[in-house]
Amino acid sequence: MGLELRRRGTQRWEMPRLRIDDREVDVPAGATVLEAAARAGIEIPTLCHFPGKPAQTSCLVCVVKVNGAPRLLPACATRVTNGMVVENNSAEVRAARRTALELILGDHLGDCVGPCVSVCPAHMDIPGMLRLVSEGKLREAVAKVKERIPLPASLGRTCPELCERGCRRTPHDGAVSICLVKRFVGDADLASADPYLPEKAPPTGKKVAIVGAGPAGLSAAWFLLLHGHAVTIFDEHGKPGGSLRYETDPVLLPEEVLDAEIGLILKLGAEFAGNRMLGRDVTLSELKTRFDAVLLACGQLPADRLQTLGVPFEGRGVKTNRKTFQTDDPAVFAAGSVVLPLKHDVHAVGAGRMAADAIALHLAGKPVEVEDHPYSVHAGSMEGEALQAFLAFGAPVARTQAAKKDGLTREQAQTEGKRCLQCACCAPGGCRLRRYAMEYGANQARFRGERPVYTRDDSHPEIVFEEGKCIKCGLCVQVAAEYKESLGLTFIGRGFNVKIAVPFNEVLREGLKLAARACVAACPTRALSPKKLP
Ligand code: SF4
Ligand code: SF4
Ligand code: SF4
Ligand code: FES
Repeated sequence: MGLELRRRGTQRWEMPRLRIDDREVDVPAGATVLEAAARAGIEIPTLCHFPGKPAQTSCLVCVVKVNGAPRLLPACATRVTNGMVVENNSAEVRAARRTALELILGDHLGDCVGPCVSVCPAHMDIPGMLRLVSEGKLREAVAKVKERIPLPASLGRTCPELCERGCRRTPHDGAVSICLVKRFVGDADLASADPYLPEKAPPTGKKVAIVGAGPAGLSAAWFLLLHGHAVTIFDEHGKPGGSLRYETDPVLLPEEVLDAEIGLILKLGAEFAGNRMLGRDVTLSELKTRFDAVLLACGQLPADRLQTLGVPFEGRGVKTNRKTFQTDDPAVFAAGSVVLPLKHDVHAVGAGRMAADAIALHLAGKPVEVEDHPYSVHAGSMEGEALQAFLAFGAPVARTQAAKKDGLTREQAQTEGKRCLQCACCAPGGCRLRRYAMEYGANQARFRGERPVYTRDDSHPEIVFEEGKCIKCGLCVQVAAEYKESLGLTFIGRGFNVKIAVPFNEVLREGLKLAARACVAACPTRALSPKKLP
């Protein structure tokens, strides 16, 4: 690779050329490897670097391998020399970045998503729903719930409260009554003059047959309709509902509640073809001819019925790829208990949604793979002093005692909403640490250090500072200085005990009078985050 000489007008200057992975790029003299990569359209992860500012070299997630160098080098602080060859994506580089991330995560104190969300089989945004209920925003709350669960009034009666087992408040005065709040939201919507129906994507012209009108099939229908596909649900019974109608105590789940909730799925556009049993009244090959995709969601079947479906099976269910929901035929999918016996309706609802997403990818001609479990760093279970710090963010009242059959009043639902400690990170999608941890498969437990006590500076009218999520990159310190804040932020302490704080023991409100939003924008984690939740 020869040194390139370029001419502009009468000026002559040198542009070093380097190779990053398989791309060659010319850069101005003095450019860093990070800048060269950006010029070549290659992303190198960074946490402690801010464009145009001196390199901090504290996070080391930007390391690359440079030919001839005895060790990996930080791309943000390494100047390009002519003929340099850089590895950005080799196994060695990726492993080093993963280790750097794991070291950062070792004493990280936060939850990307609420602990309750991680254990909810449908991964509903529970803190989001509870916040909206506490604010009396029931329409927004039902929209939030139906992003994941299209049958909240029904599941609110049948669900075994799996999510509540993960609630941080449990050891103090009982879990937040998530399930009954969900039921309240569903009931309030059904009782309203204009129950909620979301916007659908424009029609795709594609048709999907769903075999089985139980919780998995109904859930899949809802989400396929939202993708813009036409849906027909076939079922051997005369009415839709499957296990919710035919295997659930009607005292627990009254028929009128189920009918009203399914009615909304039909109103959204699903067609129901009752008394049509697969293998008896309709065949799989017929459905494959008439529809662009078929979803088998007909619940657990005995072996003799499985044999009549027309797809391979293994063990007690239809054989599928567990990541794509596809059977051996790529246009035939299966989900719910027809694949593997599921314990609860909420598992089936979650499986139906994931299958719908897989079918939508298939119909769009995209690679089919759905990953549902949201990546989350976990602060873990808490007690004593650590829990007390969190409890300050929820109403100081014990769990509402209400019988499952009676549900909650509006006041009780609002109180439960206020009891939520809002454990989840605000807008975790904007956190670069989380994004890279996902991308590099970082294991939070590998270098687990002593967990700090949770602290939160809420004094500022616009932003919040949570020290346990701070990686001490110092970007906010630089930004505050640039804005000429009279106090600003600074590093306090040494070594492992260093932390970011407002000088003279002042609070955030005093430290950031001008630069608050700019500091939030610069922060690579959610240590500094906006107060108003999106
Ligand atoms: S700061 Fe980022 S990594 Fe930490 S809990 Fe929040 S979203 Fe997750
Ligand atoms: S306090 Fe709220 S966010 Fe935290 S685990 Fe319980 S319900 Fe979820
Ligand atoms: S609060 Fe400041 S030092 Fe901490 S991670 Fe955010 S920008 Fe970096
Ligand atoms: S060391 Fe380069 S971005 Fe942190």
